[in-house]
Amino acid sequence: MIIKKPADIRPSEITEPAIYRRRRDFIRNTTGLLLAGMTGGLPGTGAARPGHGGKVIQGIERGPFSTAEPPTPYEDVTTYNNFYEFGTDKESPARLAGSLKTEPWTVTIEGEVARPGRYPLEDLLKGQPMEERIYRMRCVEGWSMVIPWVGFPLANLIERFQPTANAKYVEFQSLHDPAQMPGQRRDVLEWPYVEGLRMDEAMHPLTILAVGLYGEVLPNQNGAPLRLVVPWKYGFKGIKSIVRMRFVERQPVSSWSRAAPHEYGFYANVNPEVSHPRWSQRRERRIGELRKRRTLMFNGYADQVAHLYRGMDLAKFY
Ligand code: MTE
Repeated sequence: MIIKKPADIRPSEITEPAIYRRRRDFIRNTTGLLLAGMTGGLPGTGAARPGHGGKVIQGIERGPFSTAEPPTPYEDVTTYNNFYEFGTDKESPARLAGSLKTEPWTVTIEGEVARPGRYPLEDLLKGQPMEERIYRMRCVEGWSMVIPWVGFPLANLIERFQPTANAKYVEFQSLHDPAQMPGQRRDVLEWPYVEGLRMDEAMHPLTILAVGLYGEVLPNQNGAPLRLVVPWKYGFKGIKSIVRMRFVERQPVSSWSRAAPHEYGFYANVNPEVSHPRWSQRRERRIGELRKRRTLMFNGYADQVAHLYRGMDLAKFY
């Protein structure tokens, strides 16, 4: 998503996972480090079960809204990432995010709520159902995945903080700590990473806070220990490593909108009819597939969310 002028970018700049995996395997081979069976998930198995080496989450229930489409292999979900705090290419987060310390973790709740405070993560998770939600995820860059998240509805937490009548939006912030996040030593974005949702979007039952994937605690590169998942919006809305939630009256300015307002709007709903200046949004490449597929309105979740935007001009509110 690095900001470039339209003329500067070519589709060939987007590296397909299969290609960089071959490159990486070549490096492993030549350095004698390729150990059979030690490379994480088994590409192609696509089963949403643990066994990838992370801490297993106990008591996971089957949540609503899961797609029956096969999950993207664990290996791709965890090595093809956007997390600019660890670099702007897809491979750096998996390589560098080990420096992120996710324990202890505190989330500050502030603004228009009756119960503001600094809440330890364990406290926020106490009593929450741990649900598996297998969601389609679509990136504005034109690729998509199917990810078996583990998490719980954001609405559960919001109710607990008791927002006031003035709370119209929720603003989220990621951790800002250049000592742990080497990408923050460069000004590729204004730090910390900021995102926002309208209150009804935040309260929607499809919107979850994820703490895991494939039955295990989130790998750091996927936004540990707590990240937002909003499957009908482009991937950049899914803010990672959240440390602050602020309830506000005015629409927040997200990091990407601030960096390039013409390219990234506040809503960022997946919409094949509204193209990004550099990328058509009509079709997408599901990671692992060769042929492109049609992109669906609201990423296929129109039945659940279209009513939220009734009467809005989605070309204007993109
Ligand atoms: N959150 C933070 N803090 N920093 C980021 O750079 N990238 C976003 C989003 N959340 C990003 C972020 C983008 S552009 C995408 S596509 C998704 O995370 C990618 O999530 P994934 O790597 O788990 O697939």
